[in-house]
Amino acid sequence: MSGVDVVLDGVSKTFEGGRIGALSAVSLRLAAGDFVALTGPSGSGKSTLLNLIGALDRPDAGSIVVGGEELSRLDAAEYRAATVGFVFQFHNLIPTLSAAENVQIPMIGRGVARRDRERRSRALLEEVGLAERLDSSPTTLSGGERQRVAIARALANEPRLLLADEPTGALDSDTSGEILQLLLRLRDQRRMTVLLVTNDQSVSQQADRVLRLRDGSVEPAAQTDADSV
Ligand SMILES: Nc1ncnc2c1ncn2[C@@H]1O[C@H](COP(=O)(O)OP(=O)(O)OP(=O)(O)O)[C@@H](O)[C@H]1O
Ligand SMILES: [Mg+2]
Repeated sequence: MSGVDVVLDGVSKTFEGGRIGALSAVSLRLAAGDFVALTGPSGSGKSTLLNLIGALDRPDAGSIVVGGEELSRLDAAEYRAATVGFVFQFHNLIPTLSAAENVQIPMIGRGVARRDRERRSRALLEEVGLAERLDSSPTTLSGGERQRVAIARALANEPRLLLADEPTGALDSDTSGEILQLLLRLRDQRRMTVLLVTNDQSVSQQADRVLRLRDGSVEPAAQTDADSV
């Protein structure tokens, strides 16, 4: 498995019938295996951009091409299940399920047999350092541990593109450093493409590149970066 390139060309998005502009003609390119940090002030469109690339929402204009495929031509649910892993600021784990069961959820939609799901969830939780907590409820885990489970869940279907929206935003600086190291290691091993939203400089400075959004556009300095790929 390896990463995918992501190419956005003139992507715009408004909300509420055009009254609220979120993104204005954003163009950027991520190369396969890139680890890119996306920064920018609150309201600049970072989450909107991630949601569009993850096909959780559709742009008003422009094109998004992932691994050579124009997203508007794909079945969104199928694309997400086959290609994308998401990690959010608040882990969104299901408290009544164990860590291992949470990791298995995305596999169920893909028809993975129970025994394989169990084996893979165990391997993924071992990989993120939680071998001892397979049967624990997320409510008994620390914030950093929960985020590790959320990362293992995001990797359940071996995504070629990992989208992370402030995954360390709710963690203290030591823990967020550990989560970042984990994400970097997982990228190195899988060569997946990673786009990570963060406003924490200690996080973004370890990315291969930093893109900045401001008022719905990629800033000129960042655009030069993007164009140089
Ligand atoms: N579903 C929605 N309906 C209406 N407006 C929205 C919606 N989603 C986002 N917006 C607006 O679009 C703009 C960009 O929002 P977005 O959430 O992408 O910003 P952000 O950069 O992720 O901010 P933050 O750092 O606070 O998470 C904001 O003005 C926001 O209010
Ligand atoms: Mg956001």
